[in-house]
Amino acid sequence: MPADPADARRRAGSVPVEPVEPVVQVARPDAAPTGGAARTGAAALAGVEARPGVPKPDPVLVADGVLRRFGGLVAVEVEHLEVQRGAITALIGPNGAGKTTFFNLLTGFDRPDRGRWSFDGRNLAGVPAHRVARQGMVRTFQLTKALSRMTVMENMRLGAAGQRGENFFRALLPGTWRGQQGGFDERAVSLLRRFRLDEKRDDFAGSLSGGQRKLLEMARALMVEPRLVMLDEPMAGVNPALTQSLLGHVKDLREQGMTVLFVEHDMDMVRDISDWVVVMAQGRIVAEGPPETVMADPAVIDAYLGSHHDAPLDLAEEQAQLQAAEAELDSLAQARGTERGQP
Ligand SMILES: Nc1ncnc2c1ncn2[C@@H]1O[C@H](COP(=O)(O)OP(=O)(O)OP(=O)(O)O)[C@@H](O)[C@H]1O
Ligand SMILES: [Mg+2]
Repeated sequence: MPADPADARRRAGSVPVEPVEPVVQVARPDAAPTGGAARTGAAALAGVEARPGVPKPDPVLVADGVLRRFGGLVAVEVEHLEVQRGAITALIGPNGAGKTTFFNLLTGFDRPDRGRWSFDGRNLAGVPAHRVARQGMVRTFQLTKALSRMTVMENMRLGAAGQRGENFFRALLPGTWRGQQGGFDERAVSLLRRFRLDEKRDDFAGSLSGGQRKLLEMARALMVEPRLVMLDEPMAGVNPALTQSLLGHVKDLREQGMTVLFVEHDMDMVRDISDWVVVMAQGRIVAEGPPETVMADPAVIDAYLGSHHDAPLDLAEEQAQLQAAEAELDSLAQARGTERGQP
């Protein structure tokens, strides 16, 4: 979706940026419990009742009364949702159920008609996207947003920009980045190595395969050391050869103490890696529970058989989106009287 021009201007530096906040440490909720039943993380979901809006033992994200209308269409109407810390939660539902819109609202890329939500006890309603990321909650996009005319490494630096509380675009300009890049470049390289993209660091993102771009997007999101990672269809457009490694990467996030909330149509992936499944239909949460319970629910199966089809990446749409993002970047660079290297 198009960036808010006011937000882009703010990021471009025409409005003062907020002071840098301390780097967020990755919480390790699973490491803490000793003896007895774990009260945090995925294990704590064992005793939780399977019904929409059910409270969780240790929610990291809590949403209440979130409503988003597009004209006469109610795209999202979530009464109550809690996401358990340290667990992998899948958000599933037929095409048009409101999953992406809900992600956009929670992460500050769109504004609801009403509603509130909090992350780690801090109100997030009305907080712009770049500040949401800096607080430790990041997301990836259904259509990948890796900027094709930037190198892999430049994409990673963009991911770090939010963490420094700095002007987003300045991260790309030589000179301003130099001198501060030390720790961030090391982190970028180690993440690229983890995702087997280190040999591609100087290649343009546009030369990567669809699956590699998904990995790059995930790697870039991790530059801010998030506590909650939200993935919108991480498997869409991914070559089956990369599927297993992507699944492994998502599980790794949980092992490292992060919470994962992901949207996915691939039911094998949902069954394989989720601790909990939330089902949306027509904007509402209609079911919640462990994967084996939810995916055996006739109402859920009906919702899928009735109206679901896989939505593969539309290449033309993706190209148009990338071109728009790059045009925006170019015009901002020009406005600042700065030249950006072109391929
Ligand atoms: N910017 C917009 N303007 C108007 N309607 C929109 C907009 N964005 C989404 N919608 C509508 O809101 C509804 C929810 O869309 P959304 O993209 O959130 O669904 P989704 O669950 O992510 O679907 P999919 O599985 O196909 O990605 C759909 O009916 C969609 O057409
Ligand atoms: Mg979607």
